[in-house]
Amino acid sequence: MACTGNAMRAFFLLAFVCAAHAGKDAPAKDGDAKAASGPGGSFDISKLGASGDGKKDSTKAVQEAWTSACGGTGKQTILIPKGDYLVGPLNFTGPCKGDVTIQVDGNLLATTDLSQYKGNWIEILRVDNLVITGKGKLDGQGPAVWSKNSCAKKYDCKILPNSLVLDYVNNGEVSGITLLNAKFFHMNVFQCKGVTIKDVTVTAPGDSPNTDGIHIGDSSKVTITGTTIGVGDDCISIGPGSTGINVTGVTCGPGHGISVGSLGRYKDEKDVTDINVKDCTLKKTSNGVRIKSYEDAACVITASKLHYENIAMDDVANPIIIDMKYCPNKICTAKGDSKVTVKDVTFKNITGTSSTPEAVSLLCSDKIPCSGVTMDNIKVEYKGTNNKTMAVCQNAKGSATGCLKELACF
Ligand SMILES: *[C@@H]1O[C@H](CO)[C@@H](O)[C@H](O)[C@H]1NC(C)=O
Ligand SMILES: *[C@@H]1O[C@H](CO)[C@@H](O)[C@H](O)[C@H]1NC(C)=O
Ligand SMILES: *[C@@H]1O[C@H](CO)[C@@H](O)[C@H](O)[C@H]1NC(C)=O
Ligand SMILES: *[C@@H]1O[C@H](CO)[C@@H](O)[C@H](O)[C@H]1NC(C)=O
Repeated sequence: MACTGNAMRAFFLLAFVCAAHAGKDAPAKDGDAKAASGPGGSFDISKLGASGDGKKDSTKAVQEAWTSACGGTGKQTILIPKGDYLVGPLNFTGPCKGDVTIQVDGNLLATTDLSQYKGNWIEILRVDNLVITGKGKLDGQGPAVWSKNSCAKKYDCKILPNSLVLDYVNNGEVSGITLLNAKFFHMNVFQCKGVTIKDVTVTAPGDSPNTDGIHIGDSSKVTITGTTIGVGDDCISIGPGSTGINVTGVTCGPGHGISVGSLGRYKDEKDVTDINVKDCTLKKTSNGVRIKSYEDAACVITASKLHYENIAMDDVANPIIIDMKYCPNKICTAKGDSKVTVKDVTFKNITGTSSTPEAVSLLCSDKIPCSGVTMDNIKVEYKGTNNKTMAVCQNAKGSATGCLKELACF
């Protein structure tokens, strides 16, 4: 039988069956493709030729481990043992026949040769029930390439590779690992459902460009918990199309805070709803909890049911901010009010210190005011002595109880 077929799954199975039986006719029926390992298996990259010296390229061994693990039934494990493994872009495409766990005990180092990347560094596509766990590091080796980032100058800049990308993953867990010095975003979660990120550490210098911690877009039921993030951009950004996102027990700093947005940059964006940010601490960040939408939004969308509770601010420049006139680097092509609706936003028990007088900024648009904003127990004080704590409130409607009187917008 010839190697033909339309479905993505069939194509994938065939691709690897064909490779295994190079030169022979391969069976085309689903189920005929047997993994070498049988049900359940473990693939130690150091036994597949990977070298833990941090110098020799180990991409091939890791990619082979993936092909074997993804092709096997039952519980499959890829082991990255202690050591430093230099790797180029990794393509972990599913669907897989069983459930794959990537056990990260050692460190993966991303090659700094940008010509090797077509897109991201570690890209996981259409894999269900994925687990990535361990105490090892995914080191993006960003310092070697950050100077090539032109995004502060150019609107349509060339994007450097993100470190760990989950696309179309249903039911996944990333735990224990450290993501270090990504070239661009550390993690990007796109079109996923039911992903938990817990006890993860994300670290990059406060002045590294666009090194967002975790970005989520077009995804539902994503939980981030017990995670420490210090980066050069948003610690967490929750983009268009995100619903049912819970962020708890996260410490952020340095960084630009925990953001919903940016909203309105592209014309086909979807609503954001059911976002809960609870029990988090922000330290010396430029923003605390922020909702940002472009001044010249390209789409009509709504951000609603955003709930922020028990948040400690320590020396944060803009602790609470809704910014519907967002326009970084003045790249907006048209002037005007955002077409994004922001409603049903609760800020509850938010305490601590602000490094600027404006502890609360609700900068909503004249055409679509923010509505249903609840401020409950907001006690954030300006640290300095040359001015007083204040709130700047534009076009916001709602109610306030138990707040510092200078901070109650209503
Ligand atoms: C990744 O692997 C899949 C399946 O093996 C293949 O179809 C796809 O073209 C690869 N993508 C890249 C960018 O190499
Ligand atoms: C997120 O938190 C809310 C409120 O605490 C809860 O109802 C919901 O089930 C949680 N979602 C997930 C995905 O855990
Ligand atoms: C308010 O939030 C802080 C954390 O920022 C927490 O320690 C405290 O227990 C919370 N208070 C109430 C009444 O929930
Ligand atoms: C206090 O801060 C506000 C807002 O930043 C500013 O407009 C004002 O000039 C400051 N006042 C003094 C006395 O510095």
